[in-house]
This record gives sequence, structure tokens and C-alpha cells, in this order.
Amino acid sequence: MSILIKEILAKPILTESDYKALEEFEPNEGTNRLYSFFTPIWLCEVMYKLAIRYGFDPLKGKVLEPACGTGNFLTVLPNPKNVTAFELDPLNYEVSKKRVLGITIYNNYFETAFLQEPRFTTLLKNNNTWLKDAPFDLVIGNPPYGKYANLYSSYFKSLKFKQVEMFFMLQSLKLLKKGGLLVFITGSNFMRNDKTYQHEKEMIGEYADLVDAYRMPKVFKNTDVPTDILIFKRK
Ligand SMILES: C[S@@+](CC[C@H](N)C(=O)[O-])C[C@H]1O[C@@H](n2cnc3c(N)ncnc32)[C@H](O)[C@@H]1O
Repeated sequence: MSILIKEILAKPILTESDYKALEEFEPNEGTNRLYSFFTPIWLCEVMYKLAIRYGFDPLKGKVLEPACGTGNFLTVLPNPKNVTAFELDPLNYEVSKKRVLGITIYNNYFETAFLQEPRFTTLLKNNNTWLKDAPFDLVIGNPPYGKYANLYSSYFKSLKFKQVEMFFMLQSLKLLKKGGLLVFITGSNFMRNDKTYQHEKEMIGEYADLVDAYRMPKVFKNTDVPTDILIFKRK
């Protein structure tokens, strides 16, 4: 599958079936497999409509997708020049670049948004960031999920967050303007485990109110992990 994808990426002009193949691509090897469950386009559209229902302005609003995978959310956002994205995996990144034009996508860890450019070895003070469109009006996506341990997690150990998806929630909220929205689909752990993530919930609660949530049926092609859509509004 990856070979076919690389052939498509090398083409200067893509056919409709090439775009379809890029949309359907999900890596199926290596550690990547743990994180790469991509959100179906119809669900990206539903989540984007929820953002609009809760007040996001599609004409002017600045948007962040902090772990864009192959770019499914990016394809439903109408204003590429207002969108910033990160994606760690080089192949996912190449696919997302090919599918959407004009969006600033960084092939790097989302964590680097909070570290000094260009070497990313020093944490910026007071949750500062070098992202020029910050603070954003909307953060939308489906962040990586699971135990929080990666190349940059040690910079954030004072947060004492156990799960990477909750780290993404907290740090994304910090990049929103007052009244801005975070719309994520993520594992149901956050909503289910009453006390287990009390510390994480309290910290997230300092930054935002949970304004809506939906428990989802199976929506991902390659995983049965229970998921929820969560909508937060920045305080
Ligand atoms: C669950 S997938 C979702 C992708 C996309 N948001 C979607 O819904 O289709 C999460 C993505 O996060 C990427 N990723 C993992 N850790 C990351 C990090 N620290 N910073 C940026 N991207 C990361 C993975 O490579 C993967 O593509």
C-alpha cells in the first residue's frame, strides 16, 4: 500500500481515484499503527458543523489541527490560509500536503509549538508559542491516543499527564483565544473514568468549560476503541 501511495505522491497531477486512494490510506505497519486511526470525512464534517453551531466563524476564524494524519479534517475546512497543522509521521504529512493546498503544515511534534525555534530544546515561558496565527478560534481533530511518552514529553513532565490525548487537549486549549472552541474526537477514557484523570480534568477545567459531548458508536475503520466527541469553550 505504501508503495502505491508513494507513486501517487510523485505525480504532478492527481486523478480522482488517486485522491480517493490518499483518502483511504491508513498506515498498517510499525509503531505508527498505534496512533493512526483516521477520522472518516463525514465525521470531520459533522464536527466542523458542531464548531459552527457553537459560534465558530468560517469566514474569519483561525484554525489549528494539532495532529492532522493524512489531512481528513483539513479537507473540510474552507479557508486554507487560516489553517495551521502538525503531523509527526513523514508519510502522513506528505499525503496531507498533497491533498490540501495552501495550509501551513509542520512535519513535527505538536509539542514543538511551545519550544524555542529553530532547535526546539528550550521550553518557552508562560505557554508562549511561535505559531503566528495563535491564539486560534478553533482547534479541531483527533489527537494521538495512549500513554504519554515521546521525544518531547520530558519537557512537559511537570504537568503530570498520563495520557497523550489529554496533553493535546490541555495544550491546545492554551492556544485558543477566549471564547474559542476545541472540538476533538478521542477515546472515552476522559469521560468514563470518574476519578482516574481527576488531576487532568481539573487542569483542563482551569482553561475551559465542557459545553457538549457525544458518545459515538463504532466509527473508525480499523479500531473498536470507544470514542467521544468533546466540545470545550475557552474561558
Ligand atoms: C489518531 S491519528 C488522527 C489523525 C487525524 N487527526 C484524523 O483524525 O484523521 C493521530 C495522528 O497523530 C500523529 N502524531 C502522534 N504523535 C504526534 C505528536 N506528538 N505531534 C503531532 N502529531 C502526532 C500520528 O502520526 C497520527 O497521524
